[in-house]
Amino acid sequence: MTKKEIMDENKNLMEKIVALCKRRGFIFPGSEIYGGLANTYDYGPAGTELMRNIRNLWWDFFVSQRDDVVGVEASLVSHRKIWEASGHVAGFADAMVDCKNCQSRFRADHLIEDSLDKKAEGLPMEELDKLIKDNSIKCPKCGKSEWTDVRKFNQLFPVNLGIVQGDDSLAYLRGETAQGMFINFKNVIDSTRVRLPFGIAQNGKSFRNEITPGNSIFRTIEFEQGEIEYFFDPEKTDWEEKYEEWKKLMWEFVTEKLGIQTDNLQWRTHTDEERSFYSKRTEDLEYKFPFGFKELWGLAYRTDYDLSQHQKFSGKDMTILDPETNKRILPHVIEPAVGINRLMLMVLADAYTEEGERVFLKLSPKVAPYKAAVFPLLHNKTELVDKARGIYKDLKKQFNVVWDDRGNIGKRYASQDEIGTPFCITVDFDTLNDGAVTVRDRDTAAQERIKIEELMKFLSEKIND
Ligand code: GAP
Repeated sequence: MTKKEIMDENKNLMEKIVALCKRRGFIFPGSEIYGGLANTYDYGPAGTELMRNIRNLWWDFFVSQRDDVVGVEASLVSHRKIWEASGHVAGFADAMVDCKNCQSRFRADHLIEDSLDKKAEGLPMEELDKLIKDNSIKCPKCGKSEWTDVRKFNQLFPVNLGIVQGDDSLAYLRGETAQGMFINFKNVIDSTRVRLPFGIAQNGKSFRNEITPGNSIFRTIEFEQGEIEYFFDPEKTDWEEKYEEWKKLMWEFVTEKLGIQTDNLQWRTHTDEERSFYSKRTEDLEYKFPFGFKELWGLAYRTDYDLSQHQKFSGKDMTILDPETNKRILPHVIEPAVGINRLMLMVLADAYTEEGERVFLKLSPKVAPYKAAVFPLLHNKTELVDKARGIYKDLKKQFNVVWDDRGNIGKRYASQDEIGTPFCITVDFDTLNDGAVTVRDRDTAAQERIKIEELMKFLSEKIND
């Protein structure tokens, strides 16, 4: 296949995934009935369940199952000084460029990366400008090559507080969850029993005024992050060893908890240009999306940069006392940072399967929105409906199962396949005599008879496998 054919096929695949997501209630365009709002999305019933499962698995694996990580939930609206201290007010900017012909706006580095197959993130503005003009890069929308100069565009969302007058009314929607952990570092130390090394985790929304080329929920202006700041004393903890430990955990989570195929994953070390000046090492776990290998999850050794900045800007002492040496130390951090929505897009892309005419989402039962669907063979036979309802209600006590009695069995299978429901349970006339149901496996389409009283055990084993 030529490069162009591969690109067309991948574009086509992405379009099919996006169409399935709309059709089956995973992802809808934001504000759709008013013509849409760029780079925003809403999540439908199946998408909400899927995202909740991913988020809960993340929290369980990285917080609940560990005794060295605790959680916080910081405010989304936050003091402007937090973002001055963190460097976001001065430096959290994308280089953008506008097409003079059709007025479309692009991130300069992404425009170059997509056109020249070359990493451009972090390059100085003049270099980006030169690359676009020297290579006569064409506008992906209108095909012309008439560009404005590349210029900076700050991504923070300012908000004005009604209850405060003057300059102090300016606050920001948080641009990352990370700062919530740094500003509460002393609060957590003072209110819990945690001691170094330990992590503070947070999961919640962040906001960035992004310029994006689409690709569904890959990059949006409002998104959910799952971040951990793992604090340690660099004199007592070998950072390289800790860094490797976190890499292993991230890999384990993605492959074993989310069931992602390892061939679609790779590590990439940040180049000197793209790595933040305070970071000693940054690596991205990348996933092979239909539009190429892209960052899924970042792992950065941020040293003591953030705590020292907040100490400087707030005037508050951020050091802690080491009870063994009686010395005051400013801990360093390693930060694994992921987007929950991006995990979801990866899960959907990885699960999308076509076999002949059949389209299904090969989702791991752990993340699947519904663990099973229960059907009466016919919706107008009371004895079948009553029996199926009883099974549905019983299973629902333990699992998120869904009821479906529309159309014929074939249509129900097709719709559950596209939602990624691992098992379909049908109550038929034989059930009334033998107390067994037909259980159909999504991936193989194989069917087996299982006794009603064994269904709970069957599903438990499959889901917790
Ligand atoms: N505290 C560090 C930090 O926020 P980041 O690389 O900017 O680092 C971490 O973001 C992760 O958050 C990314 O790897 C990605 O998964 C997700 N993410 C970042 N920006 C996003 C956006 N605009 N839309 C969706 N997910 C995003």
